Amino acid sequence: MVGVVGLVAYAFWAMLPAYLPNNVAVLAGGGRPIDGGRTLGGRRLLGDGKTWRGTAFGTLAGVALALALNAVDHAVSAAVGVALPSFPLGAAVTMALGAMLGDIAASFLKRRTGRKRGAAFPVVDQLDFVVGALSLTAVFAPAWFGQTFRPPVVVAVVVMTPLLHVVTNVGAYLLGLKDEPW
Ligand code: CTP
Ligand code: MG
Repeated sequence: MVGVVGLVAYAFWAMLPAYLPNNVAVLAGGGRPIDGGRTLGGRRLLGDGKTWRGTAFGTLAGVALALALNAVDHAVSAAVGVALPSFPLGAAVTMALGAMLGDIAASFLKRRTGRKRGAAFPVVDQLDFVVGALSLTAVFAPAWFGQTFRPPVVVAVVVMTPLLHVVTNVGAYLLGLKDEPW
């Protein structure tokens, strides 16, 4: 597999540990909100949609997925004909935790701009976790980041992720797992 399809396969594989956490958080969420109910200027700091439990399970799920992918990457690379990346533990953690932190940062921005919990924030909703995952990884696993996220891969990620995000969130909404389709 070469060309654009190979590039998309590579980008998708590299992003999987960042794609899973927010979806697991939806299933695992509940309990104490991270902001503990605190407000800033009369508005919640983050809101009830960002919980310790969702964040912890989401991050652990992303790390576990990265380690599971490492176990099969040679076989899958050979099968699809693309040299897929593997995840050192540090990169697995920064991709998964970064995705959660990006989403949390977006909720902070949503509250500052007067958006209630669950309100849509187009573009930010689709890319917050990408920005979070890539920036935390660039800072804490720079060598791996540089090898893995070359410019064409970053372009593929930025184009592909919003499309995948829309499809998976509408799916989760239709299945009754999510309250809004975004
Ligand atoms: N969730 C969580 N902890 C997180 C992220 C998500 O517990 N760090 C759970 C919450 O139950 C949340 C649900 O996943 O309601 C959906 O996530 P998301 O759409 O990101 O949150 P919203 O409820 O829409 O809140 P916000 O407007 O702040 O994005
Ligand atoms: Mg939401």
